[in-house]
Amino acid sequence: MLEKTTISLIKCDVGSLAGHHVVPKPLLNIAEKNLRTAKKEGLINSYYVFNVGDDLQLLMVHGRGEANPDIHKLAWDTFREAANKALELKLYGAGQDLLKTAFSGNVRGMGPGVAEMEIEERGSDPIVVLAADKTSAGALNLPLFRIFADPMNTAGLIIDPNMAGGFKFEVLDTVENMKIVLKCPAEMYELIALIGTVQRYMVSRVWRARDDLICAVGSVTRLSKIAGKYVGKDDPVAIIRAQHGLPALGEVLVPFMHSYLVEGWMRGSHWGPLMPVKLKDAKCTVFDGPPRIVALGFQVANGQIASDDDGKPMMADLFNDPAFALARREALEYASNLRRMGEFEPARLGIEEMEYTTLPQILKKLKERFKPT
Ligand code: F6R
Ligand code: MG
Ligand code: MG
Repeated sequence: MLEKTTISLIKCDVGSLAGHHVVPKPLLNIAEKNLRTAKKEGLINSYYVFNVGDDLQLLMVHGRGEANPDIHKLAWDTFREAANKALELKLYGAGQDLLKTAFSGNVRGMGPGVAEMEIEERGSDPIVVLAADKTSAGALNLPLFRIFADPMNTAGLIIDPNMAGGFKFEVLDTVENMKIVLKCPAEMYELIALIGTVQRYMVSRVWRARDDLICAVGSVTRLSKIAGKYVGKDDPVAIIRAQHGLPALGEVLVPFMHSYLVEGWMRGSHWGPLMPVKLKDAKCTVFDGPPRIVALGFQVANGQIASDDDGKPMMADLFNDPAFALARREALEYASNLRRMGEFEPARLGIEEMEYTTLPQILKKLKERFKPT
């Protein structure tokens, strides 16, 4: 039997510097220390710690399968320790996404975002991780559709016989808590009808149709539904496999050549342009944004992230490239246009999606003063 390798990306907002802006070094150091120990002890084989805005991201490669309690406990304990440090330093929003106190075997539903994929390694397995801040999981619907279903994006859908059967999408209905699998190209129109509704339907998994090879997983949660009140958007992450009968790296990245609008941004209550940035620029500023996304590329080899001669995981910071300058420029142009509209729709989200809102209180206050027309 082939050995299986699991890629786990677990992330959490445990507190940040100068507002909801960026994870500072002392918190990254805690994550680095704990994952280094876990690697020494053999719990994980490789790791990479990074941040996107105020979200601390733990990328771990191991052989323990998805939803493994020991891996989830490692992430949970690390987030707790980092949140305590954040409290001690009086950083902003310390422990923000840690919505429960007692760990019960899996961080799903407890606040942190999770994307996990167990794979049988191919001869060579290029992986792309996407991670965004100040937006929600629906923000990745458009690129995931483009990558795996749009023949105008992914030439391989036309040219590569290995992709001829298309791809299957698992879509979550986050309102009814239901899921459905739709096959493309046959059910492409139905797929678009659902996932075009980015605030409700979200792509959670993608498989190659002809052999059910797992190709992509996304983190889909609705923090507000867990907590019952606004606690930040569920800044999404996704793991995507590329090449050799799957979309090429360039086909995975080309949807980000242009900016597009996503929900989130200031107070999780606005439409804002997604800006692809390098790791160094993954920090939110203007109107707490614009929402940012990073893409990291690496190889999974023999249960590990392929490393350099010093044992350091080799990571490609894929949006660190002038090829995404146009998208960044577009993002700023969209941002400035939208901000001209202030708090008027459609710059602001519709009332039912404004998770962070005083509007119900305002309406309550004014209720008695409304008269029949
Ligand atoms: C959005 C986000 C920020 C905050 C905003 C207000 O996801 O985290 O835009 O909503 O900075 O934050 P508070 O209420 O903490 O001052
Ligand atoms: Mg965040
Ligand atoms: Mg936050």
